[in-house]
Amino acid sequence: MESKKKYESVREVLARPEAGGEARLQGWVRTARHGKEVSFLELNDGSCLSGVQIVAGPECEGFEHDVRETGTGCAVQVTGDLVESPGKGQRYEVHARQVVQIGGVEEGYPLQKKRHSFEFLRTIAHLRPRTNTIGAVLRVRDSASRAIHAFFHQEGFVQLHAPLITSSDAEGAGQMFRVTSLDPGNVPRDESGETDWSQDFFGGPSFLSVSGQLEAEIGAMALSRVYTFGPTFRAENSNTARHLAEFWMVEPEVAFCELDDLADLAQHFLRSVFTQVREECQEDLAFFDQRIDDTVLSTIDHVIERPFERITYTQGVEILQSSGRDFEFPVEWGSDLQSEHERFLSEEYFQSPVVVTDYPKGIKAFYMYMNDDERTVAAMDVLVPRIGEIIGGSQREHRLDLLKQRFADQGLSEEEYWWYLDLRRYGSVPHGGFGLGFERLVQFMTGMANIRDVIPFPRVPGSADF
Ligand code: 4AD
Ligand code: MG
Repeated sequence: MESKKKYESVREVLARPEAGGEARLQGWVRTARHGKEVSFLELNDGSCLSGVQIVAGPECEGFEHDVRETGTGCAVQVTGDLVESPGKGQRYEVHARQVVQIGGVEEGYPLQKKRHSFEFLRTIAHLRPRTNTIGAVLRVRDSASRAIHAFFHQEGFVQLHAPLITSSDAEGAGQMFRVTSLDPGNVPRDESGETDWSQDFFGGPSFLSVSGQLEAEIGAMALSRVYTFGPTFRAENSNTARHLAEFWMVEPEVAFCELDDLADLAQHFLRSVFTQVREECQEDLAFFDQRIDDTVLSTIDHVIERPFERITYTQGVEILQSSGRDFEFPVEWGSDLQSEHERFLSEEYFQSPVVVTDYPKGIKAFYMYMNDDERTVAAMDVLVPRIGEIIGGSQREHRLDLLKQRFADQGLSEEEYWWYLDLRRYGSVPHGGFGLGFERLVQFMTGMANIRDVIPFPRVPGSADF
């Protein structure tokens, strides 16, 4: 049974097929103009980018106080008639019969009508969702999140909930935050004076997960196609516009799958998500195109319409070396691509998303499948304009002996990853997967320059506020 709502959202009211009838709304006043006789309140409730104009004259109940003493930021409840608006750029307005001020605003409300810098807005993360830009970001984020679940559901994937606390380093890179319940001022020591982690909460060292991949591999070895979608943590001291210490990652993992299948999946996946968000968030995306980056809409169209380019790392290095470009970081076979290189390839050279495969083994994680050349592994990164790497993944090493060799090469302990090696002992099959950085996806879709502005509460070196 549908619940009967006393109030409609602004979105619902604006979507009505015609004017006429009563409208009841609740929201926050963005701007108030008080004329001699009549007041105009711009009401927004976050259900969509647009607000609705409330027109109130002396005949409106609550006029003297609730209307006349309402300004930017106040919360109000309005009952009135929905009429066609004579004003430009708005279809309807509400002629108020009653306005009730629910929450007033003290002096010093920081969100005034003028434009604020994104840096400033980060310092008021408790209020910034009330701005046009951050509100739109949060709606696009939500739409993308639902599109991701819808895609995997439609493709027969099972969502696996990977743990956030773990004792294994999925990337083998040692960039983990420790989780402990020990008192830092009084840690237990063993005979040799080292911290005795066996007395810690989990009976050994534990950390926040950098990736759900290893657990996703467990899932894929039983359910064939799984995905995780959750927060991941990296204690890397990167102060860039593309790095967070806590970010959300989408990680599909597929059994009976090789590198080419993965590249196909990545393309199919991104296109499907873009298509749904483009459909659902027209107003918000048009706003980003107009106010933030005028390539937003055309970029989304390109992703959906054009096939992604595919090159090997080695080809990528050749393109970069013969580009004549003076890069800050030198390009040589064997070193990792820097963000300037990634952006050159996708933004300038191909002007399209690019799938780069087969990276040197020395710069990639222990779990990647060794190619026959024994110099490269079956890695796959997807690079996109403006962002660079948006997806990182690989076919996994499913052959026990070769995996053990990789452990030895990278100085990792077989005992610690015993269960991961077990998967190669019992019914091992070719498999692979990738990780999509969810915030980078939202950055790409919205054109937002800084990753801190596409997550509600960014965690970065030096700040975990709010
Ligand atoms: O390339 P990464 O490190 O790959 C993995 O973690 C694999 N275990 C994924 C897999 O194969 N299942 O990270 C994957 C993606 C990157 O391409 C990037 O988009 C994003 O995660 N990412 C970050 N996003 C924001 N802040 C950071 N510090 C990020 N580090 C990686
Ligand atoms: Mg990567």
